[in-house]
Amino acid sequence: MQKEIERNFDKVAKNGSYDDSASIQKDSVKLLVEIFEGFVESLNDLKIEKILDIGAGTGFATEHLLQKYSNAFYHLNDISKEMLKISSSQFKQNNFSLIHGDIEKIHLKDSYDLIISNFAFQWLENLERLLKDIFVKKITKYIIFTTLVDNNFQEINKLFQKYEIETLNYLSSNQLENFMKSQDIKRFFSQKKTYNLEFEGFSEYAKYIKNIGANFIKNNSQNLKHILRNEKSPILLNYEVYFCCIQVF
Ligand SMILES: C[S@@+](CC[C@H](N)C(=O)[O-])C[C@H]1O[C@@H](n2cnc3c(N)ncnc32)[C@H](O)[C@@H]1O
Repeated sequence: MQKEIERNFDKVAKNGSYDDSASIQKDSVKLLVEIFEGFVESLNDLKIEKILDIGAGTGFATEHLLQKYSNAFYHLNDISKEMLKISSSQFKQNNFSLIHGDIEKIHLKDSYDLIISNFAFQWLENLERLLKDIFVKKITKYIIFTTLVDNNFQEINKLFQKYEIETLNYLSSNQLENFMKSQDIKRFFSQKKTYNLEFEGFSEYAKYIKNIGANFIKNNSQNLKHILRNEKSPILLNYEVYFCCIQVF
């Protein structure tokens, strides 16, 4: 699956369709940073000099954080080389470095003041394992992220079930909440937001999902053709996004 993820995101970085279509991802990173500002508002010793952006993509999160932490050093990680190529062409200053690779396989040794990740954690094989590792090793003081949680894409999933197409599984916000509570961390805050997108029909939805690199359907090209042929009614795509800010120590 990770190879396929890498290939898909390489494709949408190269053809420029990700940046053109990912408006929800852009909005959610703004809200995430806003929530973080509230989370640390009362602290007067806040020091954010070294930042890691996990699954940075073309750099939406870094671009947004730069407005606030313009002197910080940014490390951008992504499994897709093509995504990192785009972000490195955008951020030409000296205070950037790229970490190419699967974040679940990279041995994080450095320490950071802030780790951010927007719309990438739902692609990981084991998010809880990664977070636990970060908490135990105290790799960062703060980690803030958005990820998709269950009840996403309800209409699409119903349609996929009808055509016996396997869908991706997401953690529930309760699961994440209970996980955070069980960890040895200083404090955390989370909230959920639903974003809706409407499409005229399944083929418009399919184009959109391809443009953002999220078109994962296992061995079902035949069934997909049937949906494209039969399903012409409008479709609502609901994104259930979990926002979380954590102070590790
Ligand atoms: C939906 S995009 C989000 C990109 C960016 N954070 C944004 O806000 O637009 C998800 C990104 O996560 C990256 N990604 C997926 N799995 C990853 C992994 N295991 N390690 C590192 N990056 C990963 C993808 O290559 C892609 O660039």
